[in-house]
Amino acid sequence: MNKDRTKLQVSAIESGTVIDHIPANQLFKVIKILKLDAIQNQITFGTNLYSQRQGKKAIIKISDVFFKEEELNKIALIAPTAKINVIRNYEVAEKSVVEVPDLIVGIVKCVNPKCITNHEQIVTRFTVIDKQRVELKCHYCEKITDQEHLKIS
Ligand code: CTP
Ligand code: ZN
Repeated sequence: MNKDRTKLQVSAIESGTVIDHIPANQLFKVIKILKLDAIQNQITFGTNLYSQRQGKKAIIKISDVFFKEEELNKIALIAPTAKINVIRNYEVAEKSVVEVPDLIVGIVKCVNPKCITNHEQIVTRFTVIDKQRVELKCHYCEKITDQEHLKIS
């Protein structure tokens, strides 16, 4: 199997955003973080596709949607290998990588069962204390949620 075969599995788009090189097992979490279930645009995706770099990867193509960098950076928490491609007129117009943000509001659950955010309707808030290892410090209880315990709310 070569790289070109994976391209045939998910058609090219005319305009929009391609999120490539997502770890295969993180596809549905990326869909959730970007709230793709709530948009009306054409979306195509594939998973367990062959990747030379990663073994298996997932890819998402969203037509006519151009995300803010801030929006896309949220997926770095669970898909740090993701590559963003902006497509215009069938051409790759821009390429970028995702970077773990300094501050995470919402999305992630606090690991501490006693944390107020797990008992009241409060949006979680974390300071990222280690971007490489993905360690998040809760604004409310100061406990650290690490990559291993990271749950998307
Ligand atoms: N793509 C697309 N529609 C287009 C152009 C590109 O869906 N009109 C997709 C390609 O299928 C690929 C991604 O956008 O998944 C990036 O395209 P390209 O840079 O041509 O591919 P690669 O060189 O394989 O990218 P990289 O190795 O940087 O991930
Ligand atoms: Zn907390």
